[in-house]
Amino acid sequence: MKVSIIGAGGLVGSCAAFALQNGGVVREIALLDVNEQLASGQALDLLHGGPSTADQVIIAGGYEHIPDSDIICITAGLRRKPDESRLDLINRNVDLFVQILDSLQNAGLKEDAVVFVVSNPVDILTYLAAQKLNMCPKKVIGLGTQLDTIRFRSLIAAQLSAPPTQVKALILGEHGDSMVPIFSSASINGLPLDKVPGWTPNLASELFTRTKGSGAEVIKKKGGAGFAVGIAIRDVIESIVLDKRQLLPISSVQQGCYGLRDVALSVPTVVGHGGIVECLEIELWPKEVQGIRKSGQLLQETLQKVLSRVGA
Ligand code: 2OP
Repeated sequence: MKVSIIGAGGLVGSCAAFALQNGGVVREIALLDVNEQLASGQALDLLHGGPSTADQVIIAGGYEHIPDSDIICITAGLRRKPDESRLDLINRNVDLFVQILDSLQNAGLKEDAVVFVVSNPVDILTYLAAQKLNMCPKKVIGLGTQLDTIRFRSLIAAQLSAPPTQVKALILGEHGDSMVPIFSSASINGLPLDKVPGWTPNLASELFTRTKGSGAEVIKKKGGAGFAVGIAIRDVIESIVLDKRQLLPISSVQQGCYGLRDVALSVPTVVGHGGIVECLEIELWPKEVQGIRKSGQLLQETLQKVLSRVGA
């Protein structure tokens, strides 16, 4: 399968390309960026590593790559400042994002192409993409809280000296300040997290707070996230390409899950060939469901402002 990454000259897009190259699953990676020289440099640098990673085509170019792309990953957009929320980006990124959507429509998309939004505020832009592209909502997805989920798992694992791959702890809702920790199903290799020696409610709260602030923490330290967000992007893309039907916390326009409609945010989602197979309303604690619904309300407030502004 072919993946085109729009904004691939930047940190997030280039790290996504590197993660996909090391995953060795996708057949072709096209790097698109308004800064063509930068995209070309990223592609050349990746190409040089090809003989020791995977037999893939890695190329830089423009929207000529869109019509035969199976997945179009949009990472372009300005990064927030550490003291800004992702929703604060809305005024700076919406216009650019709408231009990208118009260019996608002009270039033409394959019948079963998946549009995968990473740019922030990702939940708002995912909804906007589904609206403007007039695509089946199951084929327009957003990275959502997959990144927050692996961050949360990593911090719990580090704190408990547990193997990160065995720590399971979901984040759902907004990829933003109203994100919701899901402790009802948190575990280490199937053993309930709250039964693990050393786990306390205070520690749970502390690690969630650090997770929620991790984006800003990384921005402060190194200017912006790259490696982990690239891996989170790879997780989603490889579930599509291999039809893994993994249950992932990704963003999509909700059709009733947890009583949510007319908003995009992250719920447990089966991800396979063609994008979303289904969203699963898994039983959660009442306060977790309330948190997800609160996320939805907050996002809808911003959404109304954006939709009236772009006329979607
Ligand atoms: C982050 O949290 C880029 O929103 C992304 O780092």
